Amino acid sequence: MTMFDDIAKVLISEEDLQTRIKALAKEMNQVYSDVEPPLLVCILKGAFIFLADLTRHLTFRHEVEFMEVSSYGKSTKSSGVVRILLDLETNIEGRHVVIVEDIVDSGRTLNYIVRNFSTRNPASLRIATLLNKPDRREMEVPTDFVGFEVPDEFVLGYGLDYAEQYRNLPYIGILKPEVYTKD
Ligand code: PRP
Repeated sequence: MTMFDDIAKVLISEEDLQTRIKALAKEMNQVYSDVEPPLLVCILKGAFIFLADLTRHLTFRHEVEFMEVSSYGKSTKSSGVVRILLDLETNIEGRHVVIVEDIVDSGRTLNYIVRNFSTRNPASLRIATLLNKPDRREMEVPTDFVGFEVPDEFVLGYGLDYAEQYRNLPYIGILKPEVYTKD
């Protein structure tokens, strides 16, 4: 048995991911070709694979940084409280900033980060997210570069986890229900 046996279906293939990421990079190359080098902020952990592929298709000079925020957790979902576990090392005042996320779901995480970053006075602030799940949105998030819209299903792979595993799947898949109901 391998982790692949736990996957019910492939939602977005490896090839489709790579094609779309190249197109997103092209959009970003147009926006950032003539401005001061932006800072790409990868939100850990889920966005690390997307960032790694995206950054290699960008033709403008840029820097990358990592930020980790705590999930509000299943039990406290309604509180909307997000905690910063790892903050930026760079002062973003006057900088062009791109937040790189794997998925916007309820929107709580990014809504918090956008509000937090706005107080630091960046020159501009945009969001690049690989996946968008609009059916689940509870809080507004101004997404600028979106890879794919996905249905309200439990998606994983390509950085997204189930119980911290499966992040290394090369595609976006859907887990077999028996995997998460057996606990
Ligand atoms: C996921 C994802 C986003 C957030 C999206 O992170 O990476 O940061 O949830 O959900 P929201 O729109 O409902 O806030 P998670 O907390 O699972 O942590 P991880 O990236 O470390 O897996």
